[in-house]
Amino acid sequence: MQRVLTGITTSGTPHLGNYVGAVRPAVQASVRPSVQSFYFLADYHALIKTGDPARVQRSTLEIAATWLAAGLDPAQVIFYRQSDIPEIPELTWMLTCVTGKGLLNRAHAYKAAVDKNLAAGSETDDGVTAGLFMYPVLMAADIILFNAHQVPVGRDQIQHIEMARDIASSFNHLYGEHFTLPEVVIDEQVATLPGLDGRKMSKSYDNTIPLFVPREQLRKLIAGLLTDSKLPGEPKSTEGSALFQIYQAFATPEETERLRLAYAEGIAWGEAKELLFERIDREVAPMRQTYDDFMAHPERVEDILNQGAMKARAIASPLMQKLRHAVGLRSLVQATPQAQPASKTKTALPNFKQYRESDGLFYFKLQAAEGHLLISSSGFASPKDCAASIQRLQSEGSAALAALGFELCDGISHTELEEAMRALREAKEKAAQQKADKSQKSSTS
Ligand code: TRP
Repeated sequence: MQRVLTGITTSGTPHLGNYVGAVRPAVQASVRPSVQSFYFLADYHALIKTGDPARVQRSTLEIAATWLAAGLDPAQVIFYRQSDIPEIPELTWMLTCVTGKGLLNRAHAYKAAVDKNLAAGSETDDGVTAGLFMYPVLMAADIILFNAHQVPVGRDQIQHIEMARDIASSFNHLYGEHFTLPEVVIDEQVATLPGLDGRKMSKSYDNTIPLFVPREQLRKLIAGLLTDSKLPGEPKSTEGSALFQIYQAFATPEETERLRLAYAEGIAWGEAKELLFERIDREVAPMRQTYDDFMAHPERVEDILNQGAMKARAIASPLMQKLRHAVGLRSLVQATPQAQPASKTKTALPNFKQYRESDGLFYFKLQAAEGHLLISSSGFASPKDCAASIQRLQSEGSAALAALGFELCDGISHTELEEAMRALREAKEKAAQQKADKSQKSSTS
């Protein structure tokens, strides 16, 4: 099953641009049956942007209430708050230790802060916190802790996903294949909304229209939208018209065509704004009711998030156990393998286990390097037959499955089996090579 994951930094109040660009498409995507979706409130990330505790708390509630009001079904998806998952900061530290400082030096957000300082004649890192510098590592932990395959984000986040891949590969290389490399998903269909002044709607431009304001306030805000000075009766251009672009993001193609016609026929700006207001309000009004209810009952939101955290931790905490073991944070009582230089550390391999059941038959299991089951065989009369099937699987791969009469475990693909067989073959060849090298060495010395 494909896992799709995205986070929302809790440092502001959701506006129409967030709704059209992120919330609405994500809620639509979350009902696809073939994916498992993870949505979380990135409140640790918010601490990088603001030092105002009340704002973090309020924004967390507002954003959670917005997603729920927009139709996110917490029973269908995993919806949680980042700071409820202690495995995230724990993994962040492990990842920090495999992340090159040079990689982080190249992060756009950090570089922008440095450039600004240099332009102002200040010290390179003036006012730059280590939190800002580490932002990409925390984000990588968010993503790979859940082995997300796909991460839908805005364009400004592409580099962060690429860094998450780099960081995950460094970890895998050193400690074994624990992490899926995430892919970025950019939805080309999704509109970027202009704000009140015609520039991109963004908190940093202070030109936003909050998604949930009372109806009359929404009308007032829209009345303040920047237009040109064309008079009623004069034909108006849809090109570059913020009003038209926002309308389009809410309306059907037919409604949009009608407004285009009205522009050509010289609709008055006041009238066009009224049309826009009514169109937006039609979509927002039903959600506004739910939103207001959640805002008045934060304990309901708290409850939903707590349940989400339980679901998320049920996935995160077993993985974290494995990771702790993989990096050497282990009980002292467990056998300690001899210390090996890191580069020679063996990566885990898939393995076959043979055993006898109480029915007297012989069985085998094939376990992936990560520990999950790939194949659980049917019974054989003798250990010899059992071993022969294992042989056959190793030499023929998934082609042998049908002939042998058993299937892959649920959710396991043929590619995964082929990969496992390949890893085993390669390990065997390598071992043989090492043996040959050794015997050559001893014969020459
Ligand atoms: N940095 C993202 C933003 O500002 C928010 C975020 C935090 C995120 N962690 C994430 C997005 C993990 C996707 C995946 O938009």
